[in-house]
Amino acid sequence: MNRREFVRKAALVSAVGPFIRTSHRIQRYRVGLIGSGWWGMNILRTAISTGTTDTVALCDVDDAHLQPAADEIELITGKRPAIYRDYEELFSEQNCDIAIIATPDHWHALPTIAAINAGAHVYLEKPVSHTIDEGKAILRAARLQDRIVQVGTHRRVSPHNISAREFIKTGKVGDIGMVRAFVHYGGNRGEFTPDSVTPEGLDWDRWIGPAPYRPFNPSIHPRGFRQYLDFANGQLGDWGIHWLDQILWMMDEEPFPHTITSTGGRHIREDSTDAPDTQVATFAFEKYTATWEHRLYGANNSEKSSIGCYFYGTRGVLHLGWLDGWTFYPGNSRDSTIHEKASLDQPDSQNIRALWDDFIHSIESSSMPACDIESGHRATNMCLAAMIALKVNRTIHWDRDQDTVLGDPAAQTLMRRPYRVPWAYPSL
Ligand SMILES: NC(=O)c1ccc[n+]([C@@H]2O[C@H](COP(=O)([O-])OP(=O)(O)OC[C@H]3O[C@@H](n4cnc5c(N)ncnc54)[C@H](O)[C@@H]3O)[C@@H](O)[C@H]2O)c1
Repeated sequence: MNRREFVRKAALVSAVGPFIRTSHRIQRYRVGLIGSGWWGMNILRTAISTGTTDTVALCDVDDAHLQPAADEIELITGKRPAIYRDYEELFSEQNCDIAIIATPDHWHALPTIAAINAGAHVYLEKPVSHTIDEGKAILRAARLQDRIVQVGTHRRVSPHNISAREFIKTGKVGDIGMVRAFVHYGGNRGEFTPDSVTPEGLDWDRWIGPAPYRPFNPSIHPRGFRQYLDFANGQLGDWGIHWLDQILWMMDEEPFPHTITSTGGRHIREDSTDAPDTQVATFAFEKYTATWEHRLYGANNSEKSSIGCYFYGTRGVLHLGWLDGWTFYPGNSRDSTIHEKASLDQPDSQNIRALWDDFIHSIESSSMPACDIESGHRATNMCLAAMIALKVNRTIHWDRDQDTVLGDPAAQTLMRRPYRVPWAYPSL
């Protein structure tokens, strides 16, 4: 731990002290879920299964998600949570100890900051923000209010990822000069989906929130927002953050690259989305070079793996995957490969349970969580900086002390964006 980290940790520990003293008496935490869609309900179900929660409220702008979610929680727990359309109202009426934020990416910053300011600790889904300055504002609010913010980058608590990190840290891969991360999905050009009438029970204006308004399109909601740049950041912001976070975590001597370049575009897909279907990004660190690649077509068995990271070292190559665990290919071909299977939980073969347990442990022991907001912010920034480099179509340089693009006013402008009235961009 360097001095900066130590000071920050000490500040957090002393700040959460008063809360911790009372928290030992709290057996169950009053939880509010914002965004009761696919992943939000995965987290909440897992949290309930640990016996640490009392689900007091749910908030969603779509009745088709909110009502079934409330029904299900009532069935599981015997108690119907209060339901809301407006998270501000929820936080002002419910005294939540914990908020889970699982809204689409463009709706992460405002509810997270509102939750923190209402005194809640937050389990925030990745990516932490849609633009870089939103992430800074979340980090600032968390530190100012001394709240713990755990980000959903659960690969940091996943057993095979932890053992891969140990393998790397003990020098078994040697000196690593290059890391390549990639996700290749999909097979064809996709299909165009026309806009349509907003379904009854969905407050589309509120779903759009601070983003530029556009008519409802069923390929955006639910879940499809990932490939629309007004609401998310394509494959980099969805899958990229997991693997770029793993790179920062495994190679933790350098917290951020000094130079970022990216090329790509929409070369193949003809659907209604606008995120790049092809993208390559390069991140230059002092001691190694990292790359990201994705394509949303042409994924098949021609490559050994379509997802993960390769760490290239002087003693061999380690492939860190998801369902396929990790495999080390030694430089000396007479030596045997070493393989470790993945150890994953349900639902969806991820490790929400371990991340939730770590979150509760962090609250109760006044220690930093495994996926603290600062690391989530950095991993998110890897994606967002690459998106800025792609948009301005040139290499950008990063001021690692000021946590900002160096020079280049046009690129700096893209670190935030105008919000639609009446929403206000969070202050830094
Ligand atoms: N960590 C992981 O592995 C992982 C996996 C899946 C999804 N996620 C993240 O979870 C988030 C949600 O993704 P999803 O797939 O569940 O999407 P989803 O569309 O299924 O759910 C999002 C929900 O948020 C609701 N919503 C939108 N605006 C809202 C607002 N202002 N207030 C309250 N509710 C609002 C929507 O109506 C919807 O029900 C995303 O940020 C995604 O990146 C993380």
